[in-house]
Amino acid sequence: MAYYYSEPSRTFSEFLLIPNLTTKDCTPANVDLKTPITKFKKGEQPDISLNIPFSSAVMQSVSDDQMAIALARCGGISFIFGSQSPEDQAAMVRKVKEYKSGFVVSRSNLTPEHTLKDVLELKEETGHSTIAVTDDGSPTGKLLGIVTGRDYRISRDPLDKQVSEFMTPFSSLIVGKSGINLPEANDMIWEHKLNCLPIVDGEQRLESLVFRKDYDAHKENPLALMDGNKSYIVGAGINTKDYEERVPLLVEAGADILVIDASDGYTEWQRDTIAYVKENFNVKIGAGNVVDKEGFLYLVESGADFVKVGIGGGSICITREQKGIGRGQASSLIEVAEAREQYYKETGIYVPICSDGGIVHDYHITLSLAMGADFVMMGRYFARFDESPTKKLKVGNNFVKEFWGEGSNRARNWQRYDTGGKSGLVFEEGVDSYVPYAGSLKENLDKTISKIKSTMSNCGAKSIDELQQNARITLVSATSLVEGGAHDVIMKETSFSGE
Ligand code: IMP
Repeated sequence: MAYYYSEPSRTFSEFLLIPNLTTKDCTPANVDLKTPITKFKKGEQPDISLNIPFSSAVMQSVSDDQMAIALARCGGISFIFGSQSPEDQAAMVRKVKEYKSGFVVSRSNLTPEHTLKDVLELKEETGHSTIAVTDDGSPTGKLLGIVTGRDYRISRDPLDKQVSEFMTPFSSLIVGKSGINLPEANDMIWEHKLNCLPIVDGEQRLESLVFRKDYDAHKENPLALMDGNKSYIVGAGINTKDYEERVPLLVEAGADILVIDASDGYTEWQRDTIAYVKENFNVKIGAGNVVDKEGFLYLVESGADFVKVGIGGGSICITREQKGIGRGQASSLIEVAEAREQYYKETGIYVPICSDGGIVHDYHITLSLAMGADFVMMGRYFARFDESPTKKLKVGNNFVKEFWGEGSNRARNWQRYDTGGKSGLVFEEGVDSYVPYAGSLKENLDKTISKIKSTMSNCGAKSIDELQQNARITLVSATSLVEGGAHDVIMKETSFSGE
């Protein structure tokens, strides 16, 4: 006979946190959001921690290299989407790893034989106004000069004028020597009033460029998430079908951590995928998604470094409607967190869990951390920002960004949903939609983080661990939900910000 759960499954909006005593030192400024994302033994340190508990979803409309750089700069991590060829995904990972927080590989390059027309076309295509001129037109060729907007006048110079005639030649450039560090590069930028400092090796070959604006950004982001080589940390999504082809390329490109991206992760294919990765590579791997103790323990025993929780709660998700599987996100998390606690007591191994999908309000993030998540994964939240890979459009009087599910016809990521066979699926599990445009990632993230820290201060918690240990959480009745928002007043204006 079928098993029946005695309790209905619940969502975040059905819960609230009850404040604990706030001691005088427990101010929002003293709250630290550092959090582990890979398993570790009691008394030891995890190999990878985040400085803020945020990850961006493994989705075409959310996590490309631009998003990964922007989020790592703020202290979180992106998992670059896997619904593209292994080569293209590896190229995105490589772009993030090459972005040396300040030292960038030159992306716009020409030779001295190119013309002003080529300069203008390249500028149009890439948006870059600084172009390196190298002997072979490659980003690491011998540097012969630089072209910026100050080197030509579109109205006066003929379009066929050769780059060699108007570039600033190497002999007139101020350059940094290979091995220079960022503060030293910045000193040169200030001393010589430069916008860009090329870094070259002993043979005049171009290594990277340092831009004034990037150094300023670096100073503003003390939480930036970097590896030992000062490259941003980045994750990548994989599937249980083509991992033998995909994983080697991702690891070679420098991915720090992988995650198996699947709607239902409680499968033998996940176990095989983890085994393959563990046997062949020294890279961390998360798995999921699961919604209960059994699924969690299965993936942990298969070797997962973290486990992702959630089925059917994503904003663009129609899995529950289409297939009738899933569980309220809060209930899933509570059960998995309990299993994790038990596992920790028994083995001394702490396995981080990620709450994936269904975050609508900022306080849902704090609730999920209190319920035991070590970090959250969000799609809709990040899709709204400048840094997401999709188009910004005007619909009516409002700006929106496109946002589509991995299980929609548009993404065609059938590997995420197809649990076997080679046929591919014939129905969708996600929709194609718009989300309200919300501006820059950093601005929004700063606001969300202030709210989380403020709530944690109310709860007397200076760290996520303290919050998990001491949080008091209450269910709210359907009627009391009404008193949670503004009520019985006439609102002066309505907002379209999405939060
Ligand atoms: P959101 O933060 O509520 O937008 O949820 C994002 C999460 O939804 C992702 O991390 C995935 O786990 C899940 N997801 C992404 N695409 C689809 C889809 O097409 N159908 C169902 N779930 C999806």
